[in-house]
Amino acid sequence: MNSAQAQKTENRRLKKTIRILSTGAKGGPGKSFLVKNLAGAAAREGYNVGLVDFDTQRTITKWLQRRLQYCPDSPEIVGYEADPHDVRDASEVLSIEEHDIMLFDTPPAIDQSSEVLKTLSFGVDLVLVPTKVGISDTESAETLLRALAQWKRPTLSILNLVKPKANRVIGLAKKRLVRHAELCAVEIGEYYDFLAADEVGLGATEMRKCTGGEDIEAVWSAVRRRVGLEA
Ligand SMILES: Nc1ncnc2c1ncn2[C@@H]1O[C@H](COP(=O)(O)OP(=O)(O)OP(=O)(O)O)[C@@H](O)[C@H]1O
Ligand SMILES: [Mg+2]
Repeated sequence: MNSAQAQKTENRRLKKTIRILSTGAKGGPGKSFLVKNLAGAAAREGYNVGLVDFDTQRTITKWLQRRLQYCPDSPEIVGYEADPHDVRDASEVLSIEEHDIMLFDTPPAIDQSSEVLKTLSFGVDLVLVPTKVGISDTESAETLLRALAQWKRPTLSILNLVKPKANRVIGLAKKRLVRHAELCAVEIGEYYDFLAADEVGLGATEMRKCTGGEDIEAVWSAVRRRVGLEA
């Protein structure tokens, strides 16, 4: 083994790369938010993390740039940019083996007929579908969840941007979503502290104090268990 390979092995906790996709049928439910926060939580636990940005808005790439600029001592997360319309790009990034955990972010409102979405869905260990609680959001999520169920892809839907006192709509959203896929038992609230973490390129669990950080910690635990990672 040459020194570069030795270095790679030394920086890893897992023998096999675990791949997780965050996607959704609508714009803005927190797809990028989720990968940033899970990446931060995983990196904090010493996993070697890679993040792939399929969104031409380059939300993830910019977050990684802020991380380097404002928090240069935070654990390294390696970023990759990919073309949302290029299936070869999807296959190429799926073949990357040098990280413990690879997280993939997709663009707004990716269509379920997209070959890129299909390729990514079949190449990952878990598909995450964050959604807001309202009926138009959960109905769009349902369409995507049905397709993922047909493809027999392991999927976890997650309610995000949940406002306090929204118990009735949360209940209705859960009843719709649970028909198609496993639903994460913990929903993520809407907290301004998440935006403060975002400003400096950190995930909520990497901040010294972050209201809502326990929601991310709990979702990370659920995801970790779902992909077979020990705590
Ligand atoms: N739980 C939350 N609490 C507070 N702000 C949040 C939360 N989740 C997401 N946001 C914020 O909401 C906005 C939309 O989130 P994000 O960009 O992650 O959505 P997206 O699904 O990736 O959007 P797009 O479809 O444009 O890619 C961002 O400003 C993000 O920081
Ligand atoms: Mg996004």
